[in-house]
Amino acid sequence: MSINLATKLREETAKAHTNAENSTFMKCFLKGIVNEEIFRKFTANLYFIYSALEEELQRHSNHPVVGKIYFPEINRKENLEKDLEYYYGENWKEQIAPTPECQTFVDRIHEVAASETPLLVAHAYVRYLGDLSGGQGLKTIAKSAMNLPEGKGTNFYQFDAFNSFEEIQAFKGKYRQALNSLPIDEATAQKITDEAVRVFDLNRNVMHGLEGFITSIVDPSVLAEINSQVIPGSTERPHPHAARMVAAAE
Ligand code: HEM
Repeated sequence: MSINLATKLREETAKAHTNAENSTFMKCFLKGIVNEEIFRKFTANLYFIYSALEEELQRHSNHPVVGKIYFPEINRKENLEKDLEYYYGENWKEQIAPTPECQTFVDRIHEVAASETPLLVAHAYVRYLGDLSGGQGLKTIAKSAMNLPEGKGTNFYQFDAFNSFEEIQAFKGKYRQALNSLPIDEATAQKITDEAVRVFDLNRNVMHGLEGFITSIVDPSVLAEINSQVIPGSTERPHPHAARMVAAAE
């Protein structure tokens, strides 16, 4: 029997996902509390993360495990470059640097790629399935909160490989099938899942590192109110296609 890694990942990272949703950064973002100064720093950090991730995925694209979840059509690096050019101007590269939390994340990507290559699956899963899920809603919020011109500054959330929500959902199904078809044993599936929990934390730390900038644009009492609210986790509910996901793995 094959391992239903897609369901395992979703279930065992559900708490970590809820924590990420409940970070001050995300809760403020969801309420439209964000400005270009904060958002461009966030985008710059994402650039360093995806540069590392996509460099390693490409390098290991013939690996028997990693190769199965490598879909270059969803690569984000080039889109992030467009956004950074919009926010920082032509010489954007000279103006950006990873925060310490971002550097820790980047180091971890290179470390697993070199020493435990199948764990790259966890890094790809957390980022890409996240971008294709909640990330799609964040695009709308970013556009209206910062009053961005059409097509500017949110290329990161834009997937040209898909023309509709349905196509994105279909791709997520394909991605989950690929996760379920990996030639791995139970022990490796567990390691990938544990790494995915860690990746959520690495992401959360990056957001946490940017929270200082938010306090400069929002009243402390408003921030305290936001922090006291708890968002119910999006992935703690059963997946709408749970039955199909199990069937696909059998
Ligand atoms: C406030 C921010 C967020 C919201 C509103 C949100 C919302 C969602 C929703 C609704 C889903 C379910 C999609 C589906 O069942 O098809 C989802 C899935 C997912 N999200 Fe988030 N999310 C947020 C933040 C994040 C963050 C920060 C990450 C990681 C960096 C992340 C990673 C994921 C992943 C990996 C999945 C796929 C879970 C699975 O089905 O295996 N999300 N998100």
